[in-house]
Formats: sequence, C-alpha cells, structure tokens
Amino acid sequence: MLTTDKTRIDVSLKGEVKKETPISFIDLKAQQRRIRPQVEARLAAVMDHGQYIHGPEIAELEKALADFTGAKDVVLCGNGTEALEFAMMGEGIGPGDAVFIPAFTYAATASAVIMAGARPVFVDVDAATFNMDPLDLEIKVKTVVGEGRLRAAMVIPVDLFGLPANYPAINDIAARYGLKILADGAQSFGGRQDGKWVGNIAPMTAISFFPAKTLGCYGDGGAIFSQSKERAEIWRSIRWHGTDPSHKISIRAGTNGRMDTMQAAVVLVKLSIFEDELEKRRHIAGLYDALLKEAIDLPERCAGASSGWSLYSIVLDDRDRIRQFLTDENIPSTIYYQQPLHQMEAFSAFSPQGGLPVSEDLSRRILSLPMHPYLTDDQIHQVCETLIAAL
Ligand SMILES: Cc1ncc(COP(=O)(O)O)c(C=O)c1O
Repeated sequence: MLTTDKTRIDVSLKGEVKKETPISFIDLKAQQRRIRPQVEARLAAVMDHGQYIHGPEIAELEKALADFTGAKDVVLCGNGTEALEFAMMGEGIGPGDAVFIPAFTYAATASAVIMAGARPVFVDVDAATFNMDPLDLEIKVKTVVGEGRLRAAMVIPVDLFGLPANYPAINDIAARYGLKILADGAQSFGGRQDGKWVGNIAPMTAISFFPAKTLGCYGDGGAIFSQSKERAEIWRSIRWHGTDPSHKISIRAGTNGRMDTMQAAVVLVKLSIFEDELEKRRHIAGLYDALLKEAIDLPERCAGASSGWSLYSIVLDDRDRIRQFLTDENIPSTIYYQQPLHQMEAFSAFSPQGGLPVSEDLSRRILSLPMHPYLTDDQIHQVCETLIAAL
C-alpha cells in the first residue's frame, strides 16, 4: 500500500514543462553550494586543532547521531562494510555460522559475511518491496537447522533503496530460531519504522557515509548503531587494534577502522540540514508516485515503514529499451542491481538449488530514476513525461 504523503502535489502532467536540463541522478554539487561555507569552517577548525585522527568531532558526531535516532550509542568507523564486519566480529560470528542475507543487495553485505569466515545463506526478496522476504527467510533457516551442519547465527536484513525491511516479521522469526539481527542500513538513514528512526529499529545497525548516501561525507565513512553500551565499547576497541579505552594495550584482536576527523566534520554539517533534505526527498518520491501510478505498478512500502529515499526505483517489463529512450532524452537512470548476488562469480558457490526467482526477475526489470533533494518539480515532471512516452 502506498503511504507517501501526496498533499501539496500538483499531479497533472504538464505538457509545457520547462526543460531544466541537465538532470543529475544525484547532485552533490547543489548540496555543496548550500553548505560550503559551513564545511570550510568545520574543516578549518580541524586544521587548527590538528587532531586528524580521533579529534573531538568524532565524539561530537557519535553523540549527535545517537541523539537524532534515539540509539543508545553510535560508533564511527571507516566505511559501511567495516560497520557490518565489526558488528559480526563483536558477536563472535565466524566459521560454522550461517548468516542469512537477501540476494538482492550490494556485494558488501555478502563480502562482510565471508570476511568474517561465516557462510552467507541467500534469501529471496519480496517482489513488492524489494526487501528480504520473511517467508523465504523462514524456509532457509529451517533448512539450515534441519541439515545440522551450520549454526543458524544471524540475519542481516537490508533496507533496500532506503525502505526499512519487514522488521516485525523478521524479529519474530529471529526470536523463534535464536538469530541475532544486524540491520544493513547503509542505504536507509532517515527511514523509519513505527516512528523509530533507522539506527534505533534493530539491536545493531550498520550505516554508510559513502558520498551518495542520504547522509554522506566527502570520502569513506560508516557507523554502527547499538541498543547496548557494552556492544559499542567492543566496537570502539575493535576499530583501534583491539585496545582498551586508553588505546595503549590490546585486549582483543582488532584492526585500524577509525573514521577520519575531517569526514566527521563534513557529516556534522550535513546532519544539520538532513531533516530538510529528507522532507524534500519525500516530496519528490510523492510526486513520482502521483505522476506514475496510473502508468505503472509502483512498489509497495511495508506497513508502518517510511523510506529514507536514497533511491526511487521502479520495475519495468521492457526496462532496457525504456532506459535507452531516457538516455537519448538526457534523463539519467541507473540499474541497481544488474545481477543478484548468488549469480555473481564471487558468491555463486553459495547459490541455493533452484535459484531465487524474485531476485533474478528484479535484476532484469529494476530501474532507478533520478533522486536527490535538489530536483525541481519541473524536472520530476520531465522525467515522468519522458518515461510515460517510452512505455
Ligand atoms: C546495502 C549496502 N551495504 C553495505 C554497503 C557498504 O558501504 P560502504 O561502501 O561504505 O563500505 C553499501 C554501500 O553501498 C550498501 O549499499
């Protein structure tokens, strides 16, 4: 069911739409024009105090993110992949463990499981929401438990394109089979489930500050959100060679996984405009929905969930022809993902018998349209008119 707020939206297709080309798929330059003086001031402050590693901006951002989301604690790290890895390390996930992940996601979700020494078990996704299908999750968990060779240890739901996964159903399955839940919220900062922000929905949430994310930095960065201070302290230790709080003595194996102070300074500025940008993303998604709903079947949102709108994606039968038409008309679009993970060379050894039909079908039909807070209504009309003309 569509839950996007459609108030204040002009839904009429305007034949006379002004062409404001070029339209960008993601426009970081427009955002930078808005915040550049603040970013420069923040970066200058870092150069003034000179603590390029673990400067005061790290604790400031950790606190700001915890305050924003309501999470108990937040630990910054080098990128979103590390966030997943540290969370698994902290839980002792390793050889002999099965970790259930959706097949329709970015490679990082699967790579992190393999780097932990565990076995990824691919789960199909729901055709309407693109997120992990709880029915298939339960089938896959039962199979692992029945075979008795691996311990059913963890599930990593991914909030694809910004929409929180079906946590109510996944929580229920996890509780019945004793699975730990680590949310992969790399794409969904700003999403909500039943009034809770991503970061405060699952016991552990990994997010990414890759520049194109809803909250990004100017390089790599990531964070893990926790409902437990104890877990967060373990991750703080892991990111600094397993040291104790003095950072002098190693008490466990760890790595160098710190986020740079300069990147934290950038995120602090972007966080100050985040809610305004999120509101703009919601407006754009609502306008897309309103303009396209008569022409194509739109994806559903899970009940109680609202997206952070990192991407606006649709499913088209004749995707490649339509995409070419858009390209010829200077409308950018992207395919996430060309192949589900279980069909990629790197992960095909873990492909389940019989495949994963929904993920395979989506990879042939999915298309993401331009999505960033600085798109104008006229540009959205232009994208939709061109798309509808191509159908
Ligand atoms: C679903 C998902 N998980 C994990 C990651 C990894 O994040 P990073 O690129 O910061 O390592 C990404 C990044 O695109 C992602 O989309």
